[in-house]
Amino acid sequence: MKGAEYFAGQQREISISEFFEKNRHLLGYDNKVKALLMIVKEGVDNALDATEEARILPDIYVSVKEVGNERYEIIIKDNGPGIVKKQIPKIFGKLLYGSKFHRLKQNRGQQGIGISAATLYTQMTTGEPLEIESSTGDGKTHKYKIKINVRKNEPLIIESGVEEGSEWRGVQLRFLTEGLYREYKQSILEYLKQTAVSNPHAQIIFDSPSGRIEFRRGVGSLPDEPRDIKPHLHGVELGILTRMLRETKARTLVSFLTSEFTKVGRKTAKEICSKAEIEEARKPKGINDEEARKLLEVIKDVKLLKPPMDCLSPLGNEVVKEGLKKELNPEWVDSVTRPPEVYRGWPFQVEVGLAYGGSIDSPKLMRFANRVPLLYQQGDCAITKAITGIDWRRYGINGKGIPEEPLAMFVHLVSVWVPFTSESKEAIAGYPVIIKEIKLALQDCARKLGLYLSGKRKYEYHKQRIRTFEKYAEETVNAISELTEEEKERIRKEFMEFINLHNNKITEDEDGGEKETEEPGEERDEPGEKEGKPQDRTSRQVTLERLLQREERPDTDGE
Ligand SMILES: Nc1ncnc2c1ncn2[C@@H]1O[C@H](COP(=O)(O)OP(=O)(O)OP(=O)(O)O)[C@@H](O)[C@H]1O
Ligand SMILES: [Mg+2]
Repeated sequence: MKGAEYFAGQQREISISEFFEKNRHLLGYDNKVKALLMIVKEGVDNALDATEEARILPDIYVSVKEVGNERYEIIIKDNGPGIVKKQIPKIFGKLLYGSKFHRLKQNRGQQGIGISAATLYTQMTTGEPLEIESSTGDGKTHKYKIKINVRKNEPLIIESGVEEGSEWRGVQLRFLTEGLYREYKQSILEYLKQTAVSNPHAQIIFDSPSGRIEFRRGVGSLPDEPRDIKPHLHGVELGILTRMLRETKARTLVSFLTSEFTKVGRKTAKEICSKAEIEEARKPKGINDEEARKLLEVIKDVKLLKPPMDCLSPLGNEVVKEGLKKELNPEWVDSVTRPPEVYRGWPFQVEVGLAYGGSIDSPKLMRFANRVPLLYQQGDCAITKAITGIDWRRYGINGKGIPEEPLAMFVHLVSVWVPFTSESKEAIAGYPVIIKEIKLALQDCARKLGLYLSGKRKYEYHKQRIRTFEKYAEETVNAISELTEEEKERIRKEFMEFINLHNNKITEDEDGGEKETEEPGEERDEPGEKEGKPQDRTSRQVTLERLLQREERPDTDGE
């Protein structure tokens, strides 16, 4: 038998870099096409975050060039605030190092893994370091070549230097990596296209292997700046509470509750202490686990205001609609923004847009989290779960689960912390309240689409009927003439007038009645054409009108 001593000899610490070296698929690097996308995405997301936080309108340059068999050079350059010299090695050469993890703020990045994971993949596949240039605008450009010491999860500086006299400010990255460039559905091109839709304030130039593509700035101002917030008491869990109690600078329990959490006033803090039977003036560090548990018990039943919502910055209905119009040129588009909600104490908000017809020829789903398009893991995403949970037929939209219509669905979730299902940040976890909000937003928008579709179908139904009348016009004219022994020409003329009248009516209805139509009778008043007075409308015409009205029935499709 092998004893515990034997196993003790085998046990040792694992660095996070070693872990992800073995599990690179968890970071999204599970195939060569996707690997190129991941690198571009990490670089562009960071550039957008940095420029937005520094309140600079983003100008981003991306280049992907094939330099050998399945070898690519990727360049990503921004006009952001740059990175100070001291921080450069750790940011790009150490996993789990960043400025966003410890804050509750709506950012594209959260984890502190993204860009160093790209360095790791590059060195694993080609052995090449990441080349960085950074300037904070002080005339100095710091240049680094960096790899990762995987055993230690520490940066390995291969080369460093500084160049003086440049006027540029920002960050430029150059990767030499293994990969494959393709332009199908889940591609760099699609990611940049969708990024342009959700970030109309950004200017992006992409030099792709198949040529230059420019995504021009559509909006001249930055989105509202989302604010940082503190945690909400209703979302806090025991482990976090006890750690916060240990680490706080507050000297009493009451001041701990009011200063470390959002929306807790002195009155509420005192109420919590009294209900938990703990002295208000107790030192937070002295609160034991049993007392912390009691605090949480009490907190559950205390009424608290929802977190402040100025921490969220959705795109807004107009931007969603404009983006969809610009990209897809649909015949109908609308959007819905839900009021903010809370999961685990963290605020989030959902906005959706639906675009129908036009150049859209099949169902298309566009998922976004904090303005970042999500291209993979669609099946695992809360957005897909919400969509498949809707009975679309109730809104006159064909299809079971996913609508089978020329319909583009745009769903955007913003939050101070997006609950991704994995480190590759490709799908949103299915918290029930999140699924519910997405569903409500989609249903609201689907209702509007349903109204449009039923109007459209009604219009097509009438158009079809008029076409039928036209088709049998000659036969009908002959039959009526035979029965009534009236002149054929006169009957034909009246019959055609009747059809034209109804054609005009349908066109008017389609234009919402806004279109100026000819005055009734204008044509009939042409000299020499008119026979009889308007009140002399023949009984045949009246009968035909009645016939039409009687046959008219509302389109019940989809009700
Ligand atoms: N282009 C840039 N300009 C300025 N700062 C940057 C830039 N790129 C990265 N940073 C800084 O480096 C940090 C680490 O970036 P990284 O992408 O690894 O993590 P993150 O963006 O915080 O989170 P995530 O892993 O979710 O992407 C960021 O938090 C940011 O502070
Ligand atoms: Mg990042």
